[in-house]
Amino acid sequence: SGMFTYDPGFTSTASCQSAITYIDGDEGILLHRGYPIDQLAEQSSFMEVAYLLLHGDLPKKNELEEFNYIISRHTMLHEQLATFYRGFRRDAHPMAIMCGVVGALSAFYHDSTDITDPQQRLIASHRLIAKMPTIAAMAYKYSIGQPFLYPDNSLSYTGNFLRMTFGVPAEPYEVNPIVEKAMDRIFILHADHEQNASTSTVRLAGSSGANPFACIAAGIACLWGPAHGGANEAALNMLREIGDVKRIKEYVARAKDKNDPFRLMGFGHRVYKNYDPRAKVMQQTAEEVLKELKLSDPVLDVARELEQIALSDEYFIEKKLYPNVDFYSGIILNAIGFPTEMFTALFALARTVGWVAQWNEMISDPEQKIGRPRQLYVGATQRDYVPAGKR
Ligand code: CMC
Repeated sequence: SGMFTYDPGFTSTASCQSAITYIDGDEGILLHRGYPIDQLAEQSSFMEVAYLLLHGDLPKKNELEEFNYIISRHTMLHEQLATFYRGFRRDAHPMAIMCGVVGALSAFYHDSTDITDPQQRLIASHRLIAKMPTIAAMAYKYSIGQPFLYPDNSLSYTGNFLRMTFGVPAEPYEVNPIVEKAMDRIFILHADHEQNASTSTVRLAGSSGANPFACIAAGIACLWGPAHGGANEAALNMLREIGDVKRIKEYVARAKDKNDPFRLMGFGHRVYKNYDPRAKVMQQTAEEVLKELKLSDPVLDVARELEQIALSDEYFIEKKLYPNVDFYSGIILNAIGFPTEMFTALFALARTVGWVAQWNEMISDPEQKIGRPRQLYVGATQRDYVPAGKR
């Protein structure tokens, strides 16, 4: 029947009211609680942005100190969770481990599963933000067969994550301030993006009253796909496969070919019909990081050239396809030393802040109801059951 509005992919349905993030896709504008993303990326820190998304305003100096302290008190994982990791194969994808471990947190932090108490919701949010770096770093350590490192709360949120990932117990680890700044900026650029697929998944899961750990695990599962968070991994793999500026034309031709399923990864966006403002900051950061680390990467030349060619091609102009956040991020992460399999796990780490902010906003909304989309039924009309031998 035609009783419902049919909107596949929710291209024109607002599922909620939200005061967290504003996007104007035609103009290429992204604001968090009113602040432009480029100002936050260049001048703020990930912890400040986390506070901003959760509480609505930038923290005062003492509020930031308190927030940093609270987050640092929650960085350790229950020791029993280390044995949970050991049940995975060493070659497990980090996102598979993240889905499992984050979902399992609800079995370890029972007190944080009472979603009716705002104080408990805040503690659950702090726990998730604080534990994600530990969880992601342990997934990496497990994959390469190195010992897990405990958090060091004398370091910054991001510095601590880098140490748990790249440090070893046998030696002191010096956090490189350039790398720390770039990593922190990448976290800021991924912190929230209003009602994207994974955030909508978190909200939908949360709308039934499910506990926050289960909801964030659902978000991680959704983020994994190559059309969403998995695009950063796919984009770098694609740039490597192209390998040489001479081969770009061939790949652009494939992307335009209707009979070829190939797409330019890191290109195009459901909402942005203009340059993704995050991609701009990401490109600058990629240039800076490679320069300051005195690295050169032929893949950056391929990316720059591919962008130029695509942006002057009629197909991409007409369809308003521009580089998105994932186009340049992989180049920076690769320079820092992350294997491609970790890229989406880093996205999940950062997006956890947006997920918990959106989840809290939803649960505190007096109009909140269980999410329950309708459908247009196109199947068989009613018919009678016939026993197997008579069909
Ligand atoms: N390369 C070539 N053609 C493309 C691309 C691309 N990357 N993206 C879209 N198109 C074409 C598509 O074929 C379609 O053409 P037509 O109208 O002739 O059928 C048209 O542009 C519209 O595409 P769509 O798939 O209907 O648009 P959508 O809003 O459903 O998809 C998207 C958005 C991001 C899934 C898509 O652009 C895409 O698959 N991009 C590559 C993957 C990617 O980079 N994803 C990261 C998104 S940003 C970060 C995140 O969300 O995690």
